[in-house]
Amino acid sequence: MRFLILHGPNLNLLGKREPQIYGHSTLKEIDAELQALAAAHNAELRCFQSNFEGALVEAIQQAAEDCDGIVINPAAYGHTSIALRDALLAAQLPTVEVHLSNLAKREPFRRQTLISDVAVGSIVGFGALSYSLALTALLQIATAQSTRSGEQ
Ligand code: DQA
Repeated sequence: MRFLILHGPNLNLLGKREPQIYGHSTLKEIDAELQALAAAHNAELRCFQSNFEGALVEAIQQAAEDCDGIVINPAAYGHTSIALRDALLAAQLPTVEVHLSNLAKREPFRRQTLISDVAVGSIVGFGALSYSLALTALLQIATAQSTRSGEQ
């Protein structure tokens, strides 16, 4: 199985960007941890970060062709992007939304995302661990789905 790990704008700055909110792990470290988790489950990951909405849309469209699920931290685009929402709806892949920070404890404009109701679920507030929890959930969901489709 193959999964897309998608990181939205400004997440390339993790480690030095507001560490009191987003923690000290860099994106490279987070991706390496996810790669190890995936390898332990015989799964393959494609990790991609962009500061551009269209590039994120294209990555989702590509995943629809060759992946079994998506973990997405849409970052600020989660609060604004109908395009990302539509791309996820079109892809019809099991998707888990991630946020490092607990959005419920932050500014009111962060409390809603346009992604949460098109995702299977959201994991927020656990820092870098949010990603591992999300991938763990996705591995289980995708495995259950492929077992079910194999039975049909
Ligand atoms: C974030 C939360 C968003 O509100 C913010 O714009 C980000 C990061 C998080 O991981 O906590 O860039 O998605």
